[in-house]
Amino acid sequence: MRVYKQIDEIRRAVGNFKSQGKSIAFVPTMGALHDGHLALVRQAKARADIAIVSIFVNPTQFENPDDLAAYPRDVDADLVLLQAEGVDAVFTPTPDAMYPAGAETIVETTALANMLHGEVRPGHFRGVATVVTKFLNIVTPDIAVFGEKDYQQLQVIRTLARDLFLPVQIAGIPTVREADGLAMSSRNARLSPEDREAAVVLNRALDLADRMVAEGTTVETLGTALRDIIETERRASNVAIDIAAAETLAPLVGPIATPVALMISAQFGDVLLIDQRVTTP
Ligand code: PAF
Repeated sequence: MRVYKQIDEIRRAVGNFKSQGKSIAFVPTMGALHDGHLALVRQAKARADIAIVSIFVNPTQFENPDDLAAYPRDVDADLVLLQAEGVDAVFTPTPDAMYPAGAETIVETTALANMLHGEVRPGHFRGVATVVTKFLNIVTPDIAVFGEKDYQQLQVIRTLARDLFLPVQIAGIPTVREADGLAMSSRNARLSPEDREAAVVLNRALDLADRMVAEGTTVETLGTALRDIIETERRASNVAIDIAAAETLAPLVGPIATPVALMISAQFGDVLLIDQRVTTP
């Protein structure tokens, strides 16, 4: 496994792989890797000849400088994990390399970036879209792999690839879950044992939603049922439920007749957890 810091070095490496006729899968990350990331890496390896991973804590997707400073960083530990997965190349650029002095171009999916999660984190998805576009132009992969857990992010990236005619397949990988159904997240480690047990209610709610959508329901009935099941868990607070069109994330009303994205979040102790599922009637 080779580690490249410079854009021209990774470009040369990619050029060599391509001249040997090899296909390339790419997984962008911000490091602090956990099993959820490794599941993406395994998919990348399964879907192409060469797997390339980037590790870059992207400053433009943080609205708050304290969050950026506090973001966990342990590149050495990440490299050990990636080596064990058999990754071929890792790209670890500096902020100055990705955003050289004078860089002024941004990429924004104007509707998708500013709804739902984007409303409470203005500028976040613009930062994600801009850095992902830069990476896709540098690495030029055949396929780029993202988790479905950040469903709005995945839709933002699918949309920018479509709108900018980028010659890359964007693959969304289902959320990796613990044995009891809790979605894997680095935040789970911060839950107390009682909250950890209680948090499984999110997956139970999504299972119920699957059944209700399959049997036929309305957005309003489903929303009430999801809120009821989550709120019967007295350790859950700040419950938020969004039921939106799976592709555009536009709000829906009335009978559910097309694929829907169910995006839920709730706080357990001081830990905010999110989960999601796309379900089809
Ligand atoms: O999901 C992430 O870790 C980041 O948002 C991404 C896609 C690597 C862009 O910085």
